[in-house]
Amino acid sequence: MNGFKQVCFIGLGYIGLPTAAVVAKSGIRVLGVDINLHVVDTINEGNIHIVEPKLKELVNEVVKLGQLKASQVPEESDVYLVVVPTPFTHDRQPDISYVEAATKSIIPFLKMGDLYIIESTSPVGTTERMAELIFMKRPDLKGKIYIAYCPERVLPGNVIYELVNNDRVIGGIDSVSTEKALNFYRFFVNGTLHKTNCRTAEMCKLTENSSRDVQIAFANELSLICDKAGIDVWELISLANKHPRVKILKPGCGVGGHCIAVDPYFLTADFPKEAQLIANAREVNNYKAFWCVEKIEEAIIKYEIENNKKPIVALMGLAFKPDIDDLRESPAQKIVAKIISNHSASFLISEPNIDSNERYKIVDSKFAYDSSDIIVFLVAHSIYKKLNIDKAKIHLDFCGILNKCI
Ligand SMILES: NC(=O)c1ccc[n+]([C@@H]2O[C@H](COP(=O)([O-])OP(=O)(O)OC[C@H]3O[C@@H](n4cnc5c(N)ncnc54)[C@H](O)[C@@H]3O)[C@@H](O)[C@H]2O)c1
Repeated sequence: MNGFKQVCFIGLGYIGLPTAAVVAKSGIRVLGVDINLHVVDTINEGNIHIVEPKLKELVNEVVKLGQLKASQVPEESDVYLVVVPTPFTHDRQPDISYVEAATKSIIPFLKMGDLYIIESTSPVGTTERMAELIFMKRPDLKGKIYIAYCPERVLPGNVIYELVNNDRVIGGIDSVSTEKALNFYRFFVNGTLHKTNCRTAEMCKLTENSSRDVQIAFANELSLICDKAGIDVWELISLANKHPRVKILKPGCGVGGHCIAVDPYFLTADFPKEAQLIANAREVNNYKAFWCVEKIEEAIIKYEIENNKKPIVALMGLAFKPDIDDLRESPAQKIVAKIISNHSASFLISEPNIDSNERYKIVDSKFAYDSSDIIVFLVAHSIYKKLNIDKAKIHLDFCGILNKCI
């Protein structure tokens, strides 16, 4: 046995719950803590409150075995993992108040030899700040507990597999903390465990998502240039990518989700002078959604003038990326909200991955397509690529459905 008898997870959301279940399955007893009573009750019944393939079966199994138990309050454990949200404030500053609250909640239970790990995506320096907070309240533990940071990089929809098989970057506040954390992850991760310090590990997560954001911004900027230059951006990118060392990503209607559209702000907030490219990429990706709104509005007005009637407009897709049901920070959803509030045309909204939505009536994709005069492709859902394209309709394709080169 590795000396880790009980692990306490603080936060049982999209990342905390699957990780807690995987750790529990590996043979370590897990206490999952969440401030949300509904989350706690649901898990203790062997159910789950989030959508993630294979998770329900796993949670049910480990709860029945007594390996995973949920509670609203922490208990004395050997390892503490902080997996709470790290959003940004209205002025795009990182909000680490959840990490602070989670850390404060476990301080009374800490004892010599314990391991404390942050997994929440965090601004550089957060782990050291939490170490200071812990030692300020518990000076007796200075040099006697281990503190590390290990970012999560799973793909929603494939979380259980990736949790076990992805490589992990692990950085302690000192080398013994790194080693101790490595020993913990070795227990349930098959991927390679890479050692570093906590600041580099924090920066690594922010770098990964900022890199994606900058690369998508490049493709989005090309789409703006090509539109003005009368060039098909999809053909252009596919030709440029024939170069053996060029790999341009696909443009879209913006960038969404709770990671790529959020994490770069953790760098621009703390390094405003240095993070110029990252800040500009965020601007380009945000602007792309406004540009799409303008294009849709122009098409509606043109149709009205030419046909002397209002068009029926199909808005195809709400999710933040293809083939998922997640609407968080979705530019498609923002475009739909804006265009509907600005115009009195008739709109049909399709989102094949969700049955209903509290804000919009969702209709069948084929029905939306067949019934409309103007078709706006916002998200490259696979099902849209199978539609029979009617050349008599007006198409605004922001995600490459017609070109099918995605
Ligand atoms: N979801 C992803 O795909 C993903 C991927 C990589 C990294 N991350 C990062 O992981 C972290 C967690 O994200 P998530 O998607 O799991 O969040 P989430 O919102 O799904 O879950 C967080 C949970 O923490 C609970 N919580 C908040 N404060 C608490 C406290 N003081 N004590 C106990 N519980 C508390 C909430 O009730 C919630 O259930 C974030 O920093 C996020 O950026 C998420």
